[in-house]
Amino acid sequence: MNILGIETSCDETAAAIVTDRPAPRLLGQCIHAQIAEHRPYGGVVPEIAARAHLDRLDGVIRRTLDEAGLGLADLDGIAATAGPGLIGGVMVGVTTAKAVALARGLPFIAVNHLEAHALTVRLIEDVPFPYLLLLISGGHCQLLIVDGVGRYRRLGTTIDDAVGEAFDKSAKLLGLGYPGGPAVEAAARSGDAQRFDLPRPMFGKKGCDFSFSGLKTAVRLAVEALPAEDAQGRADLAASFQRAAAETLADRTARAAVLFREFCPSGRHLVVAGGVAANSAIRASLMAVAARHGLLLAVPPPRLCTDNGAMVAWAGLERLRLGLADGLDFAARPRWPLDASAPKAGFAGVKA
Ligand code: KG4
Ligand code: ZN
Repeated sequence: MNILGIETSCDETAAAIVTDRPAPRLLGQCIHAQIAEHRPYGGVVPEIAARAHLDRLDGVIRRTLDEAGLGLADLDGIAATAGPGLIGGVMVGVTTAKAVALARGLPFIAVNHLEAHALTVRLIEDVPFPYLLLLISGGHCQLLIVDGVGRYRRLGTTIDDAVGEAFDKSAKLLGLGYPGGPAVEAAARSGDAQRFDLPRPMFGKKGCDFSFSGLKTAVRLAVEALPAEDAQGRADLAASFQRAAAETLADRTARAAVLFREFCPSGRHLVVAGGVAANSAIRASLMAVAARHGLLLAVPPPRLCTDNGAMVAWAGLERLRLGLADGLDFAARPRWPLDASAPKAGFAGVKA
């Protein structure tokens, strides 16, 4: 099957075509990252994002088909992120996908953006179910057991901010601008990660939940105490923040690894996905966790960790293979948890 996937849930307008014949493979892709559009505001502005998706999506799909050397007649299905995300952008992607599906008589697959992150690794390597998943992005920070397509058991989630959000807010406080995660990682390279002793919220606590708002506040207080011209101090703070984030993720994931070994003795893999999985310090600390718990670490390459069309196309392909196409009346969803049965994580404002 050849599946076209469309991603428009945040600030990337992206499309890709994947196939599973004879083996999983990316045939073509195009990403327009809306960096110039949002940079003046220091973060993503939902209305500007939706408008930019509308302006760009046709061209992005055209270039994807050209790169793959395929026409619409060569496709077997059209997938689009149908949530969770910024609803204006999600609607642009969903409406476009439905229109192409209707015009061409092709199946439409409504993809959960989180499921797309969760399954991407299987486009790249042969990772069988079940696996333990650490999903770390701008809006989510969760530990889940992935039992199969559409089958998730949540072990933990953040009780306040997502880790990507902590990277983005710290970048802003450090004057590193938008997009924040890669900027913090770059600044941290010339910094001393031991210089600032920052809090590691939830570290060593029972369960697998996360919290990052205290760490963010500590970064703010440390920035305020630094002289404005102290560039080395900022690099040291970026490095210390990244280390605290990596150690916190490692601690929570180690707890989940114990549960995973107990619930799924046949499971062999720890998978890390989502934009923050592009961070090499975080990858290294999770590699150590996997090794300690007898698991194999599997992480998509960085360009497939941050939002892209291939992850949506691949999740669409996995679903269509199981006969899970959707009707054209499927409505975009601003919220769409992977494990709908998981309890709320405790406090007000919790991300599902
Ligand atoms: O998965 P993603 O592209 O979008 C969401 O679904 O949220 O994740 C974006 C997040 C942002 O918070 C961004 O700052 C973070 O991933 N990110 C990184 C890196 N690259 C992207 N965080 C740390 N280090 C990076 N290299
Ligand atoms: Zn994402």
